[in-house]
Amino acid sequence: MALFLSLCLVIFFSLCNGSASAPIKTLYLDGLLPNGDFEESPAKSNLKKTVIIGRYSLPKWEINGLVEYVSGGPQPGGFFFAIPRGVHAVRLGNEASISQNLTVNPGSTYSLTFGATRTCAQDEVLRVSVPGQSANLSIQTLYSSDGGDTYAWAFKAASKVVKVTFHNPGTQEDPTCGPLLDAIAIKEMLPIQYTKGNLVKNGGFETGPHVFKNFSTGVLLPPKQLDLISPLPGWIIESLKPVKYIDNKHFFVPSGHAAIELVAGRESAIAQIIRTVPSKFYNLTFTIGDAKNACHGSMVVEAFAAKETLKAPYVSQGKGGFKTASFKFQAISTRTRITFFSAYYHTRLHDYGHICGPVLDNVRVFPAH
Ligand SMILES: *[C@@H]1O[C@H](CO)[C@@H](O)[C@H](O)[C@H]1NC(C)=O
Ligand SMILES: *[C@@H]1O[C@H](CO)[C@@H](O)[C@H](O)[C@H]1NC(C)=O
Ligand SMILES: *[C@@H]1O[C@H](CO)[C@@H](O)[C@H](O)[C@H]1NC(C)=O
Ligand SMILES: *[C@@H]1O[C@H](CO)[C@@H](O)[C@H](O)[C@H]1NC(C)=O
Repeated sequence: MALFLSLCLVIFFSLCNGSASAPIKTLYLDGLLPNGDFEESPAKSNLKKTVIIGRYSLPKWEINGLVEYVSGGPQPGGFFFAIPRGVHAVRLGNEASISQNLTVNPGSTYSLTFGATRTCAQDEVLRVSVPGQSANLSIQTLYSSDGGDTYAWAFKAASKVVKVTFHNPGTQEDPTCGPLLDAIAIKEMLPIQYTKGNLVKNGGFETGPHVFKNFSTGVLLPPKQLDLISPLPGWIIESLKPVKYIDNKHFFVPSGHAAIELVAGRESAIAQIIRTVPSKFYNLTFTIGDAKNACHGSMVVEAFAAKETLKAPYVSQGKGGFKTASFKFQAISTRTRITFFSAYYHTRLHDYGHICGPVLDNVRVFPAH
């Protein structure tokens, strides 16, 4: 009787919980933040030349410190601001910031995608944060020749409203230096599922950060993010430099909507830890190619699993193409790390300042016989 009662209670409560929690999740974000492209201007009376006067003068945003509202093209003082995504942007002066309150689903992971460009020769840092989580991103402009590098950073929402802040922690002597932000978007990262016959999660890189529709130079995924809270769910970006997320609208990708370009040679690796059965054999297959972005040369992707290594070669004409590589490995533990990196550095044809690399897609691991 007691058992029957407690069973009833369990059923009752799970029903109760089910009906109470189901309707909460109504909001799904995937697009620009309110005035995320800064095309809604401050009133003329709140601008002193380019400097925004008043904490709430930039529509939908709160600002702190010296924030400039700039338009693309030649600037007073001989600067030239390239604003690839739209006409307007904001520049964060020394220790300045902009922030916005976002309504989100508590417990969900969100990825922010933002276009950031440095304005002076020295490296600039952009700190992006929500309460309790932050990252310092070094803004280098190495990966796109037109000054339009795009970055992604993920956070886990701890409350219904989170305050997202972009901050320039720098204290440069020249106050006209500081990162330029020209578009900011957000995307909720839905939980990823395994696909049948593949032990690798998100092996085709189909789940990733928001990609700007009008303009894309790919999205740089900075290293040292946790794989649980990542703009590329399932994957770990190791080492010092980013990898680039590329979409099929702006690049050639071997299959599906997206792939990864290994842009930083041996300074960056992408890895995942998968579940395996010790002493069993597995087949790891993946595709290597080029993004049709004039990245040319003899490329090699090195892949590692358990005690095995494969150096997969690919000769790129920079015109888009791919091939499949595979190897067998024997698991030595219940967890196996699979890792990929580009053995070499590459640059674009006729554009040696622009670093690029081989494309990785369709990573699969399945039991081998
Ligand atoms: C965000 O919320 C905080 C706390 O409620 C408030 O002080 C701040 O002014 C809000 N910012 C904007 C841009 O609305
Ligand atoms: C894309 O273009 C449309 C129409 O020109 C514009 O309304 C929108 O703001 C643009 N989006 C971005 C991210 O620049
Ligand atoms: C970012 O840099 C500041 C110092 O400028 C440091 O206090 C902070 O902990 C750093 N944050 C991260 C996430 O590394
Ligand atoms: C791995 O599996 C693929 C697809 O079934 C096959 O073409 C390839 O030869 C296998 N590789 C090895 C090393 O067994």
